[in-house]
Amino acid sequence: MEKITSIDQNLFIKFAEKYGTPLYIYDADLIVKRYKELYKYITWPKLKILYAMKANYNIGILHLLKSSKAYLDTVSPAEVHLALKLGFSKDDILYTANNITGEEMREIKKTGVLFNIDSLSRLQKYAAAYPGSEICIRFNPDVYAGAHKHVKTGGEITKFGILLSDVNSVKEITNKYNIKVVGLHEHTGSGIGETDKVYESMTNLLKIANQEDFPHLRFIDFGGGFKIPYKPTSARIDYAGFGENISSIFSDFCKRYGRDLYMYFEPGKYIVAESGYLLIEVNTIKNNRGRLIAGTNSGFNHLIRPLLYSSYHQIENISNPNGELKIYDVCGNICETGDCFAEQRELPEIREGDKLIIKNAGAYCYSMGSIYNLRSMPSELLIAGGKEFLITKRLSNEELAESIISSANEVITF
Ligand SMILES: Cc1ncc(COP(=O)(O)O)c(C=O)c1O
Repeated sequence: MEKITSIDQNLFIKFAEKYGTPLYIYDADLIVKRYKELYKYITWPKLKILYAMKANYNIGILHLLKSSKAYLDTVSPAEVHLALKLGFSKDDILYTANNITGEEMREIKKTGVLFNIDSLSRLQKYAAAYPGSEICIRFNPDVYAGAHKHVKTGGEITKFGILLSDVNSVKEITNKYNIKVVGLHEHTGSGIGETDKVYESMTNLLKIANQEDFPHLRFIDFGGGFKIPYKPTSARIDYAGFGENISSIFSDFCKRYGRDLYMYFEPGKYIVAESGYLLIEVNTIKNNRGRLIAGTNSGFNHLIRPLLYSSYHQIENISNPNGELKIYDVCGNICETGDCFAEQRELPEIREGDKLIIKNAGAYCYSMGSIYNLRSMPSELLIAGGKEFLITKRLSNEELAESIISSANEVITF
């Protein structure tokens, strides 16, 4: 097999011929670069970057990050089991528990993975069940920031975290059951463009992180949310300057606290978003009284971010890059009116049979996917070290239908 030196338009066309479309493609080298560069930007020496695996749980990507000694942020028991099965150490995983059941609590506890608890109610139940144990506590930083209201996780209208003003109740419970709080956590939101909001969240959380109330702290976790430029016109945040400011806020805090603690961040998007492409094919062009609609062989079941968050994803017509510019709605094949990747987007003329790539599709795209309308999820191709690895293979229509029948618990016929 020829070694791949750069992922360009010709290569996408070759991939479409070889693997078919729709197809997700990930650039492994970029994932590793993004993971490692955060350690360069954030200069505080006791730093751990936990990859938020909800962004993309492709096992090729997880193996890749494990080989880069990555830590993981997990949010469901199955994520924890998957990480452990792939060989991540329980000590390198944090489990952030939102609205979990008692059964899930016991299931995770058995694995030995550290809990990050986000409600007083769960804290009470956890402490009573496991007195003397260690935990991390998630607070709501009381800062409202993020790319869309659905991904802003601070402030009073969110289900996440314990209010900072409830810190005394936290202490009452943890003291009563001799619980050691080894970590404090917050996550403000996703795609935060205003770096000041991040500093504000950090400062708010650090205000309650004192020796007297929390003498056993080993780390403070400031969540994820690092923004990447989705639009070609958007500027990249100055991460070097941002990293320096973060380190300085934390260094000042550690002096006050009296001990150097670990600083954690949990980015998902920053690490994988830019590495991913969704390669699709146009099969129908419609002209609705002048409104051009390009119908493709994918849909919001494969990439829901435009529908869910009004997110912008750059699209390129790789079959006709120099075509005359026209305005299109680029839509999917799912029976829902909202099934569009882009509305009124200027693109080089699209013809039936043209291949399009949707860019920055590495985070919250495949992982949010479904087989709605009974259409299979795309295959996933990882390009690593110049080689192609088909990590997941698309089910044929017959295989998908068969999988529905074979996953039935009880088959009844009337
Ligand atoms: C608790 C927590 N940590 C980390 C992340 C990762 O966020 P992002 O992908 O924006 O970095 C999320 C995203 O939802 C989250 O809920």
